[in-house]
Amino acid sequence: MSKLIVLMGAPGAGKGTQARLLQERLGLPQISTGDMLRALKQEQTPLAEEVRPVMTAGGLVPDDVMIRIVRERTGREDSRDGYILDGFPRTPAQAAMLEEMAAEQGKRIQPILVDVPPEILERRTVGRRSCPVCGEIYNIYFRPPKVENVCDLHPEAQLKHRADDNPETVRARLATYAEQTRPLLDYYQASNRLRRVDGTRDPEAIYADIEKIVTSDE
Ligand code: AP5
Repeated sequence: MSKLIVLMGAPGAGKGTQARLLQERLGLPQISTGDMLRALKQEQTPLAEEVRPVMTAGGLVPDDVMIRIVRERTGREDSRDGYILDGFPRTPAQAAMLEEMAAEQGKRIQPILVDVPPEILERRTVGRRSCPVCGEIYNIYFRPPKVENVCDLHPEAQLKHRADDNPETVRARLATYAEQTRPLLDYYQASNRLRRVDGTRDPEAIYADIEKIVTSDE
């Protein structure tokens, strides 16, 4: 049975960083609901109008919208042999939908928490920069590019700072996570599925632990 990897963790925990490594090294597609919503937000559609203020305020986009987006994306051919969810589920309704979808797709859910204490998260998010060409993730405090504000792999590209990575929105996102998403950890723990990795170490050390979980037969 192929695995459906769910990377969990607070804003800035390193889900995207780890999902990109898994995609690169194991060939499983990274399905980031945050990235999909940021692309959708650029469109001139009623849905984009609905999503924009929610993200700016650090809240959650409604479950029915998210469920529709995830169902469509995970139904594509590249997801047949497994995939990585980065940023989904975030509410009990999303978790319930995922159980149904995993059963339909014949996949086993493997939730993995990238565990990072709150005091580190603000610098991780506020200091984040990413390449608009390849999506490589940097951090001005923890993982600066070789040349300030320029991607190491794309010297022509100026790094981008996410609109919701300002201190005020980050605080709101952390509060939203604590209220609405953290309780899902108990849900997965109760069925003995949740695995935790210490997310305060070097990304490669974290990756090594995650890869072991993902490739084990358990
Ligand atoms: P989303 O894009 O999912 O944001 P998030 O969950 O807040 O997570 P982040 O992307 O901020 O952090 P990350 O854990 O991926 O960390 P990263 O690897 O980049 O969602 C954005 C918004 O979309 C939400 O607020 C919501 O409005 C909406 N949304 C999304 N999904 C939704 C859903 N399912 N339902 C409803 N609404 C939804 O790393 C962070 C920084 O730390 C980087 O600078 C990186 O270089 C650095 N770093 C990473 N690992 C390490 C390490 N080990 N050591 C040192 N630095 C590190």
